[in-house]
Amino acid sequence: MNKPINRRQFLGGAIASGAAVAGLGMAGRAAAESPNNRINVAVLGLSRGARLAQTFAEQENCVVTHVCDPDMNRANNCASAIEEHTGTAPEALQDLRRVFDNPDVDAVVMAMPVHWHAPAAIMALKAGKHVYLEKPCCHNPHEGELLVEAARHYNKAVQMGVQRRSWPGVVEGIERVRAGDIGNVYYALSWYTSTRGSIGRGQETDPPDHLDYELWQGPAPRRPYKDNLIHYNWHWHWHWGSGESGNNGVHALDLLRWGLDVDYPIRVTSAGGRYRYDDDQETPDTHLLSFDFADDKSIGWQGVSCNNPNVQGVGIANFFGEEGSLVISDGGYVINDNDGREVESHDGPRADGPHVEDFLTAIREDAPLSLNAEIEEGYKSTLLPLLGNIAHRVGRSLACGEKGHIIDDAEAEAEWRREYESGWEPSVT
Ligand SMILES: NC(=O)c1ccc[n+]([C@@H]2O[C@H](COP(=O)([O-])OP(=O)(O)OC[C@H]3O[C@@H](n4cnc5c(N)ncnc54)[C@H](O)[C@@H]3O)[C@@H](O)[C@H]2O)c1
Repeated sequence: MNKPINRRQFLGGAIASGAAVAGLGMAGRAAAESPNNRINVAVLGLSRGARLAQTFAEQENCVVTHVCDPDMNRANNCASAIEEHTGTAPEALQDLRRVFDNPDVDAVVMAMPVHWHAPAAIMALKAGKHVYLEKPCCHNPHEGELLVEAARHYNKAVQMGVQRRSWPGVVEGIERVRAGDIGNVYYALSWYTSTRGSIGRGQETDPPDHLDYELWQGPAPRRPYKDNLIHYNWHWHWHWGSGESGNNGVHALDLLRWGLDVDYPIRVTSAGGRYRYDDDQETPDTHLLSFDFADDKSIGWQGVSCNNPNVQGVGIANFFGEEGSLVISDGGYVINDNDGREVESHDGPRADGPHVEDFLTAIREDAPLSLNAEIEEGYKSTLLPLLGNIAHRVGRSLACGEKGHIIDDAEAEAEWRREYESGWEPSVT
């Protein structure tokens, strides 16, 4: 079962409601300021990572010493931005192996494309680093299992970047669901909408001089460079990405799974397709996933990437209880009664800071398992969209057994893992 809400999450809630502010803040600050507690951080993958680098640089006694991206324009730009922010420029690197080699780096923040996540995180763990890893934590279930095993083997903090797990208003909303405040809850639903355009048809060409495409590809078997792939559009190709379900979906599925207190599904169903545009995108723009769990509980996720219906009253996580509903959106939540009347409404802050702070505290306290989004929970949440994507690709529902493994379907089971470029296969030891 999901781990209970932990001490720092509770304290986060206490801070939100005004209690216990001074005591915790000062103790935490004193610990962070001790010279022995300085944490040197390297940040990899500098789009989302550039934002995270700023957030890490703002934390007490935390220094961004390196930034790294195979796109040297991005590495240099991010180094300059951090210098502007802090007065000191981190070293800009192109090859992540130089980060792992460096004994001065304590922790590595990873926001690269998904095909890199688990292999790079395992490399970092082997080199003795703590890892803050963007969601989804893996490209396929097999390497996600290896990643959890590696986190245990090397006993390091591995936090997945589902930052809502550290937002006090969200934590409180989840706690209310789990405490039975809307009665028995057996269904939870999320709905993502956007107005993404077409990615067009790419042409094979040489990569630009500032990009090392070999390093960008890393563990993924080689494919020719195309002019509509980098940056960002890799999300929509199975070879590198996991579609909208693994992109925005995992944030929502993580909250739904947490609130419903479920781990691994017993049945996974997918409907939808790439309906809106005829282009290079392989992953669905219209994706309806459902997950049944033992004990009569279900989760639904609907991804509508190319229309924005602007539905009112729908949040990122909607819990349906026998005595009412609870809707989490932004940093807070709303409770409605069974007649649809709003009974309570709570706001809360939303930012990356608390999740980053939680990571640094777990390192300082040498308490990797205390993380708000510890990698085993992160993997369970990542597994949901990955199973949904497998169901989509094979075109039928999946039956799942222990730890979500697919039963009685050899074609679907073969999708549990991928092929790797020779020399880049992840392994725990
Ligand atoms: N938690 C959040 O709210 C949030 C928000 C945005 C993105 N993300 C996640 O961040 C990740 C990156 O997404 P994005 O939108 O920034 O993609 P992007 O394609 O814009 O950026 C990825 C960057 O990683 C770099 N990269 C590739 N290989 C690398 C390597 N070996 N070492 C270092 N850098 C490497 C690329 O060159 C690129 O600059 C995704 O997993 C995405 O889901 C999370």
